[in-house]
Amino acid sequence: MGPTRLIYSSRRIDRAPETLNAILQTSRRNNLRDDITGVLIVSEQNFVQLLEGDRARVGWCLSRIMQDPSHDDIQIVSTNTVPYRLFPEWSMHLVETAGLRPKTLERYLIDGAFQPSLMSQVTIEDLCRMLSAETSQAGKRDLRQQLGGAQDA
Ligand SMILES: Cc1cc2nc3c(=O)[nH]c(=O)nc-3n(C[C@H](O)[C@H](O)[C@H](O)COP(=O)(O)O)c2cc1C
Repeated sequence: MGPTRLIYSSRRIDRAPETLNAILQTSRRNNLRDDITGVLIVSEQNFVQLLEGDRARVGWCLSRIMQDPSHDDIQIVSTNTVPYRLFPEWSMHLVETAGLRPKTLERYLIDGAFQPSLMSQVTIEDLCRMLSAETSQAGKRDLRQQLGGAQDA
């Protein structure tokens, strides 16, 4: 059986950059331990997270996340068993919508705003696939640079 992919959205309460940093550090530490991978998409108002891994571990992770006071209005978008992971190399890839190209982000806006609670599963998965393709492109670029560097040496 393939990994479980869980997607939820929520509303940010605590928007301090230090809080986001702490979330990311804890996530990366725990997810590495639990073999969970994924992406956390952050806008000014919202979170969307995709978690992939063993079904039970993803479930335990979600139950911790649901108790976290730094967000509320947590809405499960989907849970599926999938053939492969979208972010196999990321214990938690952070994407801030403010850092996305406006042309890219535009496709995902509703009434001019990023509103994950109104987005369908298909649209959120499409966004995640696009982000996943970008990270693997970046990975290939890094590798090419490393290989280029090795050839130069
Ligand atoms: C939006 C959001 C995403 C989070 N993502 C994760 C995650 O992927 N993995 C994780 O272990 N904790 C995540 N957390 C933190 C958990 O809520 C919780 O604080 C943490 O799992 C507790 O870990 P600890 O018992 O090791 O301190 C997230 C919190 C928020 C608000």
